[in-house]
Amino acid sequence: MAAQISPARRAVRWAILAGLTLFVSYTAAKALYSPWLVDDFPEDLAIKVELLPLVFPLHMITGGLALVLVPAAIAARRFPRWHRPLGRIAAADVAVAGLTAFPVALIEPVTTGSALGFSAQGTVWLLLLALGIANIRRGRPRAHRAAMLLMAATTSGAVFFRIYLALYAMIGGYRHYHLFYAADAWTAWSLPLLAMAIWLKRTGASPFDHR
Ligand code: HEM
Repeated sequence: MAAQISPARRAVRWAILAGLTLFVSYTAAKALYSPWLVDDFPEDLAIKVELLPLVFPLHMITGGLALVLVPAAIAARRFPRWHRPLGRIAAADVAVAGLTAFPVALIEPVTTGSALGFSAQGTVWLLLLALGIANIRRGRPRAHRAAMLLMAATTSGAVFFRIYLALYAMIGGYRHYHLFYAADAWTAWSLPLLAMAIWLKRTGASPFDHR
């Protein structure tokens, strides 16, 4: 018999899901609009726009789209007619957002620590994407699912990065800002990735499952 969930727990679940959906949609919409807001960028980022006038806006737009396309492809997993085209578009988009992240991170870095953190995130993102594609091409749907959930967790780093920055501005002020920025560039994606890896292990799933 299926486990019963109390109405109160169900309401809490829906509230959390609605809050997350709202925040992710807001971040995605803001990212898509960012190429038209570059005049308001802080100096650290404005210089990158000047040096990478095509690559940086391309990263912002494909990054914003990734926040919509990756969850959409996962949500449509039980409907192959939708999942396949959405998955292909999301994969192409993540490839562009991931590849453009490297020059954006490494040219005139805000700090060396943040440039390395973003580069590590981009590398993990693209490796998980490649692993997910290789798994499904070899007919391993379980391993494909696990790789894509890990990739989605890495994607969520873009949202957590901004949440932590906003919290720091509210609570921490401006002291040690660069140190915080560098720590954020590492923890924003590695914590959700770790949480997802732990959850997958507990449920017996692995991106290296060869069955
Ligand atoms: C997951 C891999 C990603 C990496 C490695 C990455 C990397 C970067 C880097 C290095 C910067 C410049 C900031 C700096 O150098 O300090 C940047 C800026 C930006 N990224 Fe990404 N990014 C990723 C994903 C995303 C996603 C999913 C979005 C969607 C929101 C996004 C949207 C933006 C936007 C709008 C900016 C402009 C500045 C800002 O609003 O903070 N990126 N990204």
